[in-house]
Amino acid sequence: MTIRKRYTGLIETYRDRLPVADGTRLISLGEGNTPLIQLQNIPRLIGKDVDIYVKFEGLNPTGSFKDRGMTMAVTKAVEEGSQAIICASTGNTSASAAAYAVRAGIKAFVLIPEGKIALGKLAQTLMYGAKIIQINGNFDQGMALVKEIVDHAPVSIVNSINPFRLEGQKTAAFEIIDELGTAPDYHCLPVGNAGNISAYWKGYKEYSTDIGSLKAVTNKRPVMCGYQAAGAAPFIAREMIDHPETVATAIRIGRPQSWDLAWTAQRESEGWFAAMTDEQILAAQKLLSSNEGIFCEPASAASLAGALHDIELGNIPEGSTIVCTLTGNGIKDPDIAIKQCKDAHPVTIEADLDAVKKAILDSL
Ligand code: F0G
Repeated sequence: MTIRKRYTGLIETYRDRLPVADGTRLISLGEGNTPLIQLQNIPRLIGKDVDIYVKFEGLNPTGSFKDRGMTMAVTKAVEEGSQAIICASTGNTSASAAAYAVRAGIKAFVLIPEGKIALGKLAQTLMYGAKIIQINGNFDQGMALVKEIVDHAPVSIVNSINPFRLEGQKTAAFEIIDELGTAPDYHCLPVGNAGNISAYWKGYKEYSTDIGSLKAVTNKRPVMCGYQAAGAAPFIAREMIDHPETVATAIRIGRPQSWDLAWTAQRESEGWFAAMTDEQILAAQKLLSSNEGIFCEPASAASLAGALHDIELGNIPEGSTIVCTLTGNGIKDPDIAIKQCKDAHPVTIEADLDAVKKAILDSL
C-alpha cells in the first residue's frame, strides 16, 4: 500500500511563493486544495458551448475562502508576537479569524453588523469562542472602527487590508492553473470588500511572470469579471455608497477597502464589473444546487449569476473556459435557503412500510 502524502495546507504547498520564513510556526487547518468542479448540466441547460468550472471554496475548513488569507495573517501575527487579532466582518471573516485564533492560542475580537449576518456564521464564531461585538451599524462602519482601534488597543487587524491576507488568497489562482495547466479565459468572482479579486489577480500575474529563480508556469492570464449585488454596487456606481442593501449579506458593503487594487485588476485584465439583482443571485444559487448538487451561499452565486448573464449577452463568447469562484458554503445561510424552497413541501407519513412505499410510488 502506498501512503499518499498528508495535505497540510496552502502555506506548505506554496511556501516558495509566500513570505514565510523557514522556522516560522504555521497556523493551519489544512485550508486550500479545494475542488475545481466542471459544471455538466447547466451548460446543456442554457444551450451554450462553454466550459464552466466552479472553484468550491465553501469546502475550506470554516466553509469559506477566508481561510486561505487567515492562515497567512494569523501565522504572521503570531510570528510578530501578537496576542490578539481583530476584524470587522459580514460573517465569514469573523468565523475564520475565530477558528485560526483558537488554533494559535490567541484571542479574536470580531465586529459584526447586528442582525445582518447569516445564522451559520454566527453559530461558528460563537463555537470557536471569539469575543463578538455587535454594532448598530453596517460592515463599513465596523471597518472604520477597526482601523481606529488599533491605535488604542494591542490587536492586529486581520481584515484584507492586512497584506498577508491577499498573499494567502492568491494561492487559489495557483491551484486553478496547476489543475487546468493554464489560466482560464474568464474568471468570475463576487465582489464585496474587493480583496479576493485583487488577490486572484496577484496570483495569476505571479504565475505568469518569472520571479527570481521561479519560472513562469503559464503565459496566460484571465479576464477578471467582478460581480456585485445591485443594492451594494460601488464599483458600478464608480463611487462609494452609504447604504448598501442586499439579501447576499456577505457582500453588503458600500466602501470596499481594496478599491484601487480591484480597479487595477479590472484594467490590467481588460475585465469589467457588473451588478446582479438579488433575484438573479438567488436564481443562480438555486440553479446550481438543483442541477449540479453544489450548494453555495447567496453571495457566492453572484459569480455564476454574472457569468451566465455575460454568456447570454455574448460578452463571454462561446468556446470560452470560465472559472467561477464559489466563495462560501450554502450551509452557512440556512434561512435564505429554506425561504428559497418554501414551495417544496416535505411529506409527513406514518412510520410504516406501506406508507413509505406509497410516498415513493406516488412521486415516481
Ligand atoms: N463571498 C463571500 C461568501 C464573502 O464572505 C465575501 C466577503 C465575499 C464574497 C467578497 O469578497 O470582500 O474579498 O470582495 N466577506 C467579508 C467578510 C467581507 O467579512 O466575511 P471580498
